[in-house]
Amino acid sequence: MPPDSSFAPTQLAARAAYLLRGNDLGVMTTAAPLLYPHMWSWDSAFVTIGLAPLSVERAVVELDTLLSAQWANGMIPHIVFANGVDGYFPGPARWATSTLAANAPKNRHTSGITQPPVHAIAVQRILDRARTRGRSTRAVAGAFLDRRWPDLVRWHRWLAEARDPDGRGRVTLYHGWESGLDNSPRWDGAYANVIPGVVPPYQREDTKINTDTTQRPSDGEYDRYMWLVEEMKSVNYDDALLPKVMSFAVEDVFVSAILSVACTVLAEIGEDYKRPHADVRDLYSWAERFRRGVVDSTDERTGAARDYDLRAKKWIATETLAQFSPLLCGGLPHEKERMLLRLLEGPRFCGHPDLKYALIPSTSPVSRDFRAREYWRGPVWPVVTWLFSWCFARRGWAERSAALRREGLRQASDGTFAEYYEPFTGEPLGSMQQSWTAAAVLDWLG
Ligand code: SER
Repeated sequence: MPPDSSFAPTQLAARAAYLLRGNDLGVMTTAAPLLYPHMWSWDSAFVTIGLAPLSVERAVVELDTLLSAQWANGMIPHIVFANGVDGYFPGPARWATSTLAANAPKNRHTSGITQPPVHAIAVQRILDRARTRGRSTRAVAGAFLDRRWPDLVRWHRWLAEARDPDGRGRVTLYHGWESGLDNSPRWDGAYANVIPGVVPPYQREDTKINTDTTQRPSDGEYDRYMWLVEEMKSVNYDDALLPKVMSFAVEDVFVSAILSVACTVLAEIGEDYKRPHADVRDLYSWAERFRRGVVDSTDERTGAARDYDLRAKKWIATETLAQFSPLLCGGLPHEKERMLLRLLEGPRFCGHPDLKYALIPSTSPVSRDFRAREYWRGPVWPVVTWLFSWCFARRGWAERSAALRREGLRQASDGTFAEYYEPFTGEPLGSMQQSWTAAAVLDWLG
């Protein structure tokens, strides 16, 4: 390591590219070498964003692999399992989607739940990067869009229909893992009402790999995670029956904001590349519906967004990054938006005086739910920094976007490509060599 323990941008980019190569199994990139040895849905979208500046062709392969595991109902599953790879729990045998779920693909093992819909952003990055390349690369990207356009629209349609049947403008989740923010304090109340029944015995693999238990969800949380899988299995993962049997059901504002943005991005691609009008019209209408759903959830005084617990029938107000969901998709009245930006940049979040870098902690350091080292209960996640920075650029907030990129790169210059970081000390935590952290760096430096 250089004397100041930080890598210069060119070295950092080279290491990030080397990391993605190392995590590449051929047609899929593992989310991380040991802890996550398979393909995760939203990880793979970010990985695609990192691959695009290196090779548009390889980036296309990544999304093709993911989409070839799409379910017949349109759902993109949250894990596509690598063939013959063990070491992760719950694996294919516990999910049993191949035997139980009518919609599961026949030629791939997948989980039975979904994850945040960031994929349209990755498609846009492929097309943008291809535009700067030669004719054959542009043809690869164009053929990809021709091949996968219907699948991408089906994916968004499934979220808008199966997961928002009443048109409330918020995506319903039946498992905390579907939020991507597994153990965020946002879900504590809803999980408190999940009473695990008989769960077949199991052994966690994650705590064998990351032995510091302060960094991972607790055993009590895992019992609930596993019980929800059993509830889903009891109805063969049937979309129409999940609302009736699941003891966990929440409307997630962060996923809803992402869906709104992704629908807009895909609609814009559809216009640019002359896709069917009816698809573009549907995408714009979903973008608007979910933007409205996010805005409707906001606190009158602060502009902060809230999730909704469908079982307890109450709003969930927590001081987490999800509060800032309206800043991703827009739609707040001007004054409310300014208040929310002040909250983001003030001492409860990025402006907290003890933070090592001015970045968004997953939970506010002043919240009593805050745990500096524990997964989504406090640490700073580089991929979240990337997402906010990218959305802020889209919103026309160039300076805010650049500030997050700058601070994100300072944090990542330790070269560990950690999954998450302790907010006060900058200690790298979770898995090292996490693919999406490398991808964020590559996009920033690309
Ligand atoms: N993030 C989860 C895990 O820790 C699963 O999606 O295994």
